[in-house]
Amino acid sequence: MIRSLILLFLIQLGILMGAYSQDVHTLVVDAGKTLAPVSPTMWGIFFEDINFAADGGIYAEMVKNRSFEFRNPMIGWKAIELDGNKGEILTINREDHPANLRFVRLANANPSQSFGLSNEGFRGMGIRQGATYLFSLWACPQENDLSLRVELNDEKGNVLASSSLESFQSGWKEYSLTLRADATAEKGSLRLLFSGKGLIDIDMVSLFPADTWKNRPKGLRADLVELLDGLRPGFIRFPGGCIVEGYQLSERYQWKKTVGPIEERTTLRSRWMDEFRHRLTPDYYQSFGLGFYEYFLLSEDLGAEPLPILNCGMACQFNSKEVAALNEMEPYIQDALDLVEFANGDSTTIWGKLRADMGHPEPFRMKYLGIGNEQWGPQYIERYQIFHRVLKEKHPEIELISAAGPTTDERNAYLWEELRKLDADIIDEHYYKEPAWFLQNASRYDSFDRNGPKVFAGEYASHTRQQEAPEGRNNWEAALSEAAFMTGLERNADIVVMCSYAPLFAHKEAWQWNPNLIWFNNLKAMPTPNYMVQKLFSTHRGDHVVPVTEKGSPLTGQNQLYASTTIDDRTQTLYVKLVNTSEREKKVVLDVSGARLERNGVQEVLAGSPEQFNQVGGTQLFETNSRAFPVARGRAEVILPPRSVSLIKLKEKK
Ligand code: AHR
Repeated sequence: MIRSLILLFLIQLGILMGAYSQDVHTLVVDAGKTLAPVSPTMWGIFFEDINFAADGGIYAEMVKNRSFEFRNPMIGWKAIELDGNKGEILTINREDHPANLRFVRLANANPSQSFGLSNEGFRGMGIRQGATYLFSLWACPQENDLSLRVELNDEKGNVLASSSLESFQSGWKEYSLTLRADATAEKGSLRLLFSGKGLIDIDMVSLFPADTWKNRPKGLRADLVELLDGLRPGFIRFPGGCIVEGYQLSERYQWKKTVGPIEERTTLRSRWMDEFRHRLTPDYYQSFGLGFYEYFLLSEDLGAEPLPILNCGMACQFNSKEVAALNEMEPYIQDALDLVEFANGDSTTIWGKLRADMGHPEPFRMKYLGIGNEQWGPQYIERYQIFHRVLKEKHPEIELISAAGPTTDERNAYLWEELRKLDADIIDEHYYKEPAWFLQNASRYDSFDRNGPKVFAGEYASHTRQQEAPEGRNNWEAALSEAAFMTGLERNADIVVMCSYAPLFAHKEAWQWNPNLIWFNNLKAMPTPNYMVQKLFSTHRGDHVVPVTEKGSPLTGQNQLYASTTIDDRTQTLYVKLVNTSEREKKVVLDVSGARLERNGVQEVLAGSPEQFNQVGGTQLFETNSRAFPVARGRAEVILPPRSVSLIKLKEKK
């Protein structure tokens, strides 16, 4: 009996010790052996106007349908009939102004009472106590005896701010005033109340917070841009995504219609309005107040390379599948050439002059240009090669990004083969897959052919379906699997030169696609766990890849561990990224050779349970926690919590 008890004890001890020893991992980092350089463009941003990312999102305009250009020109607007006072509203088309076809004529029936319009904003207007708002409109009185009272209201109709324009001069003119709100409302509205006798034409009714990014008038929402800035992105890809392609070619994104004075930019229906039957959004249009000039400026502000994507003569292949005839590609090619001139030409050129007139005489120094979004098949190759030929001849300084289809299937394989033959520069891969795919594909690029085009992981996101709450799909399970995959991207930085999570933004009440990197409502924004992972990598990019191995092999999921390491040349700091996807804590011994390290290291950790996420308006659950640990003679021990992403910083001695 005693003998069998002792045996049992020994067996259990053996199991325990075995289990313990399985969870101690010695990783060798050879700091003396720097491998490929990490491109400064490694971690970037994918911006697409989907989920109200532009109008109703980062573009801080608060008035929806400000120019009455929607198919139903009164979407977003309501007549205000105080005490039953009825006025008349007419939408008038002017053929001489095709970019801004419509305006509204208001007639007041009873001069002793007010009549007007209210605008509901984008699922309401976020109005903040103490903040200043800039109101403006274009007006042309037909009978000149009217004054205008402008109000900001809360959900119950309480007035939060008001101001007046006492008179209007004849002819079309722009008028403006400022309003200061004395209370906060998440779903406020704007009211225009005309008094007096007469008729007045109005257009471009606009309301912006004064506090925009860099305080630019009629600019971008500061809190959202600050989150982008926090990523220190290496590039900004714009304007998408499928909106580049359009449902049909007539609705493709045409950059020339998005530059110049905002009142001359043609409003376009968004293809996301009715793409998904379960998320119909009939009030989704593109005003292009955020246009190509603003995208270039944003890239410059954030120190990111601008990466515009142009239509390549193909509409979305999931939708109309329409293509431009091969002998009718000239306008598409010309758009590309003119874009290079707009971005980089001097102000004596036609398009360079427009950029200068818009306020930026210096070129934007664009280096990359995308040809098509997510195209596939021989029809893409036929069209791409026309761009390739012309652009390589006229602008060999520009690197071209070409499409690789919507996912990693035979379409992708075909395009890689064809684009290799064409000596393409960089190929844009998209993967929206389940978490397991990301875990299994951390080694995707380890054995990729090095002699040929580079890789742009242009759109990726781990898609779980566990939670139906909008932000819920951006849970830790998804973010953790992306982190594991990203170690593979980083390890292969010799071939992977650009990466961007997609999509970027989503309005909590107006989204079409899920998951997304940043969720917001009209007052607040919330970074997702996925954002926190992106930030951990992008703000610790490093300049060269350094090998990190266990028993001589890179960590690509053995024992549910993933790793990559880079070194920052300037600060001489090693950044070791360690991802533990297991349910168990792991102890890692870091054995660093080829560098004399300072005596303390820092570990920044993100960890959580798989279904957790950050909710807009709630507490931010995912934040990095930092701790210091001792380093002696190049060795250090760190604990990786269950389901965690760690960034280990090890500084070399001076
Ligand atoms: O990111 C959302 C969409 O996914 C993009 O518009 C498209 O390129 C892809 O299919």
